[in-house]
Amino acid sequence: MLNSADAPTAHAKLNAWIEEIVALTKPAAIHWCDGSQEEYDRLCAEMVEAGTLIKLDEEKRPGSYLACSDPSDVARVENRTFICSEREEDAGPTNNWMAPAQMRETLKGVFDGCMQGRTLYVVPFSMGPLGSPIAHIGVQLTDSAYAVANMKIMTRMGAKVLDVLGLDGAFVPCVHSVGAPLADGQDDVKWPCNAEKYIVHYPDSREIWSFGSGYGGNALLGKKCFALRIASSMAREEGWLAEHMLIVGLESPEGEKTYVAAAFPSACGKTNLAMLIPPEGFDGWKVWTVGDDIAWIKPGDDGKLYAINPEYGYFGVAPGTSDKSNPSAMQSLTKNCIFTNVAHTDDNDIWWEDMSEPPAHVIDWKGNDWTPDSKTPAAHPNARFTAPASQCPTIDPAWEDPKGVPISAFIFGGRLSKTFPLAYQAFDWNHGVYMAATMGSEATAAAEGQAAIRRDPFAMLPFCGYNMGDYWQHWVDFGAKLDNPPEIFRVNWFRKDENGKFMWPGFGQNMRVLKWIVDRVNGKADGAVKSPIGMMPTHDDITWDGLDYAKETFEHLMQVDRAGAMADAEDQSELFGRFGDKLPAEMENQRQAQIKRLNDAPEVWKLPS
Ligand code: OXD
Ligand code: MN
Repeated sequence: MLNSADAPTAHAKLNAWIEEIVALTKPAAIHWCDGSQEEYDRLCAEMVEAGTLIKLDEEKRPGSYLACSDPSDVARVENRTFICSEREEDAGPTNNWMAPAQMRETLKGVFDGCMQGRTLYVVPFSMGPLGSPIAHIGVQLTDSAYAVANMKIMTRMGAKVLDVLGLDGAFVPCVHSVGAPLADGQDDVKWPCNAEKYIVHYPDSREIWSFGSGYGGNALLGKKCFALRIASSMAREEGWLAEHMLIVGLESPEGEKTYVAAAFPSACGKTNLAMLIPPEGFDGWKVWTVGDDIAWIKPGDDGKLYAINPEYGYFGVAPGTSDKSNPSAMQSLTKNCIFTNVAHTDDNDIWWEDMSEPPAHVIDWKGNDWTPDSKTPAAHPNARFTAPASQCPTIDPAWEDPKGVPISAFIFGGRLSKTFPLAYQAFDWNHGVYMAATMGSEATAAAEGQAAIRRDPFAMLPFCGYNMGDYWQHWVDFGAKLDNPPEIFRVNWFRKDENGKFMWPGFGQNMRVLKWIVDRVNGKADGAVKSPIGMMPTHDDITWDGLDYAKETFEHLMQVDRAGAMADAEDQSELFGRFGDKLPAEMENQRQAQIKRLNDAPEVWKLPS
């Protein structure tokens, strides 16, 4: 059984690697995943039998399951995530680093015999449409059937990937173990995992090793580990971009489509923006979803940038998702989904906070009785749905186009309640890179004092697989090679007034900002005035049909408060200082230029009325 003669491929390197991992991890069996529906159904039935999954009501939620994890294994573990480049400086100050030789020694110890009593599944997967020139292949070896089932939804997975790989195609090897070997006759638990966790990346040899967790980004190695950390490093070497960005196509009533890619840190409503429904006043406009989390972007022969969504499904945060906040996501969740760490209703369906009126009774994600009076949430705040992208009602007809979709603009957003305007445009590419490098979100405001900004450059802080200073330089160099680079924008949906109230309605109304961006990139609008921090839309440049929104509130929303903006520019020196000589000179030049513009600005810069 542990013999590569049984392998469904003659790819010598792949088979040799599997033999090596089998010898190390000592599984009881090997299963090559073919990616078929029968295989998925069988694995899910086995997990139901083992208590890992609950089959939800077939009428209400066909083909769907609920999993509840061990309470210690509920999220990505950034402090256990390592970038093991040969040289420490290549991981940079924002990553955990360990020398590869030392990490290999450590991992040899923890992986030794870690799959005893379990099946090792071989999961060949393609990130991106099969055979697309932008796509890349990985092979995950895992002892988690839950990971396999999720990988089937999140990636193109199975035998067809081996066909693309042929006899000697390149693949990223990904080893994953929950780290819970079973002794002879030992009963399994519902959610095996290990208190000790390692999420390890070797960018030089393009390998991933993950130990101890069965959850999300720790276990579905195609997503953050491959499509962002390893891919960002590959992209730098090969001249492309692997970004933590959603991709949407904005179609005008005339049928003209403009694609934009947008990066936001967690908890900024990325999936909502990816599936936005245009509000009243936007008759004939459509927003098409290409991807909700990751974009791989390569220059085409025509000098434009083309993007694919490397994923095949959504692994979205469930709490807060509702018919109101995101009807398209809710429709994507009606069947064939896996829900993790949400609540189980008495009629064998699922529920989470803010999905609807709370039911009178549910079983919470920890397996306890819960009522609306309970002090703890019914769903874990990081509870997730895994849903096939094809079920999204707004999925773009071109989402599987192997050549990708042309990107006209990049949008960067944070969550900032003070001083930051709703939207503005970079003066040029490098100014845009600076805007993205310095983006951030407020940590939850302390009871008193200034809320500190947690810098999250390009929303890539936990996901850049190499030195962030080199990453900024890559963006500068990449733009310099483009004849007609996309325009770059910053947005902030979260500014509050002096009473602590959000000034902008957000959600579908964000379409008004997207429409301004579309007008700007298509050269239809003069559409902007120069402010000290970028090009800004005036009241006249925004389409207001269908929304009653006071002009004064908009003008307040767009104000640049010199002291606040200056404090931010000054605070950026802390971030920049961490990179030493890896900081691109251009970033500090941009910061100085920003300071100069602010020095020359009035105390409160206002839109001309
Ligand atoms: C995610 C994240 O899960 O960004 O997408 O954390
Ligand atoms: Mn993400």
